[in-house]
Amino acid sequence: MTAAPALLQARSLSKSFPGVQALANVSITVASGEVHCLLGQNGAGKSTLIKVLAGAQPPDSGELLWRGELVAFKHPTAALARGIATIYQELDLIGGLSVADNIFLGHEPQSLGFSMRRTIRDEARALLDRLGCADIDAGSIVEMLSAAQQQLVSVARALSYDARLLIMDEPTAVLDRAETETLFRVIRELVAGGVAIVYISHRLDEIREIGSVVTVLKDGRSVAERLPAQSTPTSALVQLMTGRSVEYPFPPRPAPPAVDTRPKVLEVSGLSRSGAFADVSFAVRAGEIVGLAGLVGSGRSELLETIYGAARASAGSVRMGGQTLPGGSTETAVARGMGLAPEERKRQALLLDDSVFHNVSLPSLDRFARAGLIDARRELAAAAEVLGSLDVRPADPERIVRELSGGNQQKVVVARWLLRNCALLMLDEPTRGVDVGARADLYALVRALAADGIGILLVSSEIPEVLGLADRVLVLREGRVIHEAAAAELDEARVLDLIMAGQA
Ligand SMILES: Nc1ncnc2c1ncn2[C@@H]1O[C@H](COP(=O)(O)OP(=O)(O)OP(=O)(O)O)[C@@H](O)[C@H]1O
Ligand SMILES: [Mg+2]
Repeated sequence: MTAAPALLQARSLSKSFPGVQALANVSITVASGEVHCLLGQNGAGKSTLIKVLAGAQPPDSGELLWRGELVAFKHPTAALARGIATIYQELDLIGGLSVADNIFLGHEPQSLGFSMRRTIRDEARALLDRLGCADIDAGSIVEMLSAAQQQLVSVARALSYDARLLIMDEPTAVLDRAETETLFRVIRELVAGGVAIVYISHRLDEIREIGSVVTVLKDGRSVAERLPAQSTPTSALVQLMTGRSVEYPFPPRPAPPAVDTRPKVLEVSGLSRSGAFADVSFAVRAGEIVGLAGLVGSGRSELLETIYGAARASAGSVRMGGQTLPGGSTETAVARGMGLAPEERKRQALLLDDSVFHNVSLPSLDRFARAGLIDARRELAAAAEVLGSLDVRPADPERIVRELSGGNQQKVVVARWLLRNCALLMLDEPTRGVDVGARADLYALVRALAADGIGILLVSSEIPEVLGLADRVLVLREGRVIHEAAAAELDEARVLDLIMAGQA
């Protein structure tokens, strides 16, 4: 076997932000026809590295060689012109424009006499079809699409460049299993055609599935380069990333009580919302973790939003502590002790230009009020404790949230609700973009909250997470609860069967 030619070579890249050395002498070599995986804990420097490779951020020092030639990209368009296309972790689509316009913004295909718009629509359609996105209309306005659909549009946009190197920063974080499989099929096609992929994910099983080689970053340094993706044990990767071993991330599940007399903190009866879900009934008891499994689009997030009062139900009722909630009022829900950590952190949850501390303490201010004044010391101490237990980095609570890495922003969303002392806590994809080590910490925290008597309702696209953390699992398909069982009685294959049944 002859060595594949180095397509891209980075030598000794360094990059600092105030108070943080994001990259320290990182070198990486990417060859044509390989999927080069980049692993590392939240804040390790992965996104910073790919921004430097893509010309979106200049390095402080170091060199970049493209096909052996020294290059310095001043702007992402310079990298694009060479054939480097990037799908960023925080999507950069323009919400008010159509899907087709987003895909071809700045590089419209040449028209041959026909209306240009028609050409763009057709080309966009072809790319979306290649990604199996029959449900996305090329003329739709992007902000109307779900997070998963937007992610797929940005993949389509990257494909439209006919790139030699495609960089993907956590592309599957918002995708479900079927969407991920389609993406992997496209990746395999591209790689077979000689395209190189730089691939970032916190889902380590994906590395073995799709990866060729692995480079591991830790605290801005490269601690392992070009390890074989197929044969390096996951435990070794985790050890390299975190410096510790995370054998089994889920805390032990307490034996269920023989007769469950724990009070029901949440009772949902016959809840329906047209077009989203229908006739959903279940209860969550104090101290119980109930998991909701289902595909993206099965109505899981809509159900949580409706329970929370952010959307109105068309029928049915939600009771907390025995009292019916008025519906359509998040204030009442929060006042009664309900918390929701939503899935789309940027859009729904975070004040990006405010401090970590404020973001965390915001809904809990009443906890720290005494005679109308906020006890700032207690507030800061309590927030610092939750942030510390989730290992939010950098540990400085005064840091602006926008400057945190993606996974650390996610931890801030969850920390906010951990601090609040809810009676019922709803977590929608709480570990999206969160690294393996921090996941284990988060699971332990959720289990501890349950042990304190808090009811937890958990939504996750990762079936092992639902099965590992929940006591009881509801399976949602097309807006209906089609199965309910103790988590211990289910396995991944069975749940997959249930949620996929009826799908092509
Ligand atoms: N614009 C910025 N200003 C200040 N600090 C920044 C900025 N961008 C990144 N950082 C810091 O650089 C470090 C590396 O961040 P980066 O986003 O590269 O991490 P990551 O490995 O992609 O993490 P994640 O898995 O959470 O996405 C972090 O400590 C982060 O807070
Ligand atoms: Mg990142």
